[in-house]
Amino acid sequence: MKNILVTCAFPYANGPIHIGHILEHIQADIWVRYQKLLGNKVYFICADDSHGTAVMLKSNELNLLPEVMIENILKDHKKQFKKFNIIHDIYYTTHNKFNYFYCLLLLNNLKINKLLYKKNIYQFYDIYKNIFLPDRFLKGQCPKCKKYNQYGDICNFCNKIYNSFDLINPKSLLSNTIPVLKKTNHLFINIKKYKKFLFNWILVSGFQSEVKNQLLFWLDNDDLIDWNISRDFPYFGFKIPNKYILNKFFYVWLDAPLGYISVFKKFCYLNYNYSKFYDFWKNDNDYEIYHFIGKDILYFHGLLWPIMLDVLDFKKPTNIIVHGHIKINGHKMSKSENNFISTKKWLKYFDSDSLRYYFASKLSFKINDINLCINDFLKTINCNLVNNYINIASRIYPFINKYYNNNLSNKLLDYNFYNFFLNKYDLINNYFLNFNYYKIILEINKLVSLVNKYINDYKPWLICKNLKKRYELHKFCTTIINIFAIISIYLCPIIPNIFNKIEKFLNIKLYWKKIQIPILNHKINKYKKIYKYINKNIF
Ligand code: MSP
Ligand code: ZN
Repeated sequence: MKNILVTCAFPYANGPIHIGHILEHIQADIWVRYQKLLGNKVYFICADDSHGTAVMLKSNELNLLPEVMIENILKDHKKQFKKFNIIHDIYYTTHNKFNYFYCLLLLNNLKINKLLYKKNIYQFYDIYKNIFLPDRFLKGQCPKCKKYNQYGDICNFCNKIYNSFDLINPKSLLSNTIPVLKKTNHLFINIKKYKKFLFNWILVSGFQSEVKNQLLFWLDNDDLIDWNISRDFPYFGFKIPNKYILNKFFYVWLDAPLGYISVFKKFCYLNYNYSKFYDFWKNDNDYEIYHFIGKDILYFHGLLWPIMLDVLDFKKPTNIIVHGHIKINGHKMSKSENNFISTKKWLKYFDSDSLRYYFASKLSFKINDINLCINDFLKTINCNLVNNYINIASRIYPFINKYYNNNLSNKLLDYNFYNFFLNKYDLINNYFLNFNYYKIILEINKLVSLVNKYINDYKPWLICKNLKKRYELHKFCTTIINIFAIISIYLCPIIPNIFNKIEKFLNIKLYWKKIQIPILNHKINKYKKIYKYINKNIF
């Protein structure tokens, strides 16, 4: 049995959960459910990222104290994830006292290791809003490739990492004005000495090849620049003790990843299980840690986070699973483009399983962006999920009901055919294990077509007229129901609501590990519609 800790990146506490967040949580949730089916002990944790300028500005806008706003948002975020059946063991906040403790511990260790230094730097300042501008509130030209419209930390085009003051022709996104450079004193981590350690760690990792290449590219191109971990007032975050630097706050990107530790600590605290906490985070045992993140935050997770862990003498992640971004009908999702889909909006029109199924049909171990195209979505759900798969049950049920009083027979008709489906077990396991969910959906589509063809060829609607073939027909229906059960088991981590309904219909608990035992001499329940066609267009 394995012990596995799974995390998703912490959504910022300044807005609603949207389907981009949900993509990541669905990717992780499917994997967590699958690992649990194997009998592994899995903890799945997440939290709101509650600090930083963006959160502070949002609370100003709402005329609320940040502490009050993040509480409200936390409640809402938790609710949204529940609605998508994301099985977090804990969903908490980075604004917690364990987190502050780890910020201080990290700082202390950095100091002991002589990795901290103070430096006067120039930073862009918005004189209209009276605030130093965070990297993501600045846009300008990339200092390397000169591409327009880039943020203050990384170029979206050439992936160059730079300091915001190197941005060419910067503009403040807060006031749409040209910011001024202002001198300010900050606390830096000297991270250059970690280059070799990171190199070796990345080379032996099981990272996706694109992830590996990108991280090595940054290391090769001297993009590992010393890290400014302090921020000026006004800021919503943890205060850095004045003995390190006067009147500054911890940069949100320092305390947010530490949340992976502190939130799990909170979970262990609530469950009286501190020993679990240390088992996971201490070095040198086979406990595993997986972070699921989007491609935009790879630098933090692939380079800065392992350094932080090393300074704390904590375990490095076993793997970091990176996904691409959601596009809506080919366009970047954004409020300004008017194509922003919050989970609330989604659930007004559709259900959660349809999105889980659709995203699964797109997710692979690659970092490609994922396009949510409405026609493709409708086709995937109505043709593949409803018409081909779920319809198997509604095609066969009338015979079982009419002639056999909802009882299954004592034998299957065609063990070879049945075994063909059973024998896909290893393949499907492999696809789950390696995050290749789209291959599962492709394989299931093939299997489902075979079943429907088998039904078409057998023609139960004719066979039922022949009284002598009643036992054979009974065995036929039982075979189909059993194959339907196998396919449902293969899909259960992906579509949990539908799976629950199928278990109710089949009147039995279906187990991943007992898949090879056919259901015989068993009474099933009355068939109630498991899923309806969808036809609304919201985009
Ligand atoms: N708060 C940071 C993460 C800190 S982790 C210690 C953050 N928050 S976020 O709300 O912007 O994003 C949270 C996660 O959602 C990230 O992994 C991000 O890549 C992912 N996504 C946010 N928008 C997305 C899309 N439009 N599409 C797919 N994933 C996206 O980053
Ligand atoms: Zn560039």
